[in-house]
Amino acid sequence: MEYNVNLASFVTSYGNLSQMDFSSLPEVAFAGRSNVGKSSLINKLLNRKNLARTSASPGKTVTINFYAVPNKETKQTALHFADLPGYGFARVSKGEKERWRGLVEGYLRDKSRPLCLCLQLLDMRHAVSADDKLMLSYYAQSGTPYAAVLTKADKLKPRQRAEALDTIRADLSSDVRVVPFSAVTGEGTETVWELISGSVKVGIL
Ligand code: GTP
Ligand code: MG
Repeated sequence: MEYNVNLASFVTSYGNLSQMDFSSLPEVAFAGRSNVGKSSLINKLLNRKNLARTSASPGKTVTINFYAVPNKETKQTALHFADLPGYGFARVSKGEKERWRGLVEGYLRDKSRPLCLCLQLLDMRHAVSADDKLMLSYYAQSGTPYAAVLTKADKLKPRQRAEALDTIRADLSSDVRVVPFSAVTGEGTETVWELISGSVKVGIL
């Protein structure tokens, strides 16, 4: 299927699981630490400057944001992107952390959702954090296909890049796809789209 990214639009934000509408459309989730580049990746994939919103108070508003991507021919929504709330803020209260966990874990465990692929974003310059590992364990436990997108690849020199790839790969299962990505140069954009298209097809069959 081909998508018309130019007609992609913001759908809504959900702050708790009970608000979430049932949908039979395939979903791709984007997860990662706050500031890792989730909004930038979504904007790059959808060829837009500022479609994916950034919260005025990052780390405080725990919501899952949905975007609709239409089919090129019918113009009907064919796919949803789910931007999961970022994590990793040092000064977040225990209550907020619990809310984050309830929302994200609940979303990933909800077998009624047609979640085809989780894209786990990891800043290529940093080690995989404990929170990142928690996300990876959610995918494994829930049996959701996932891939790692290594963001901000433009910030690394070739040698640092090779080292970073080795370090991050060591923390992931050997069968997980790893895609270096840069919102600045556009590197990796096509590969991420290929992963999305491939997993949506698998999900539909
Ligand atoms: P939250 O919404 O707060 O969870 O953050 P986010 O994960 O959506 O990150 P966002 O896309 O807003 O990017 C955070 C910062 O990193 C911004 O200043 C971006 O311009 C920058 N950034 C994102 N991706 C890249 C990249 O590939 N290369 C470089 N150099 N900067 C990037
Ligand atoms: Mg964002």
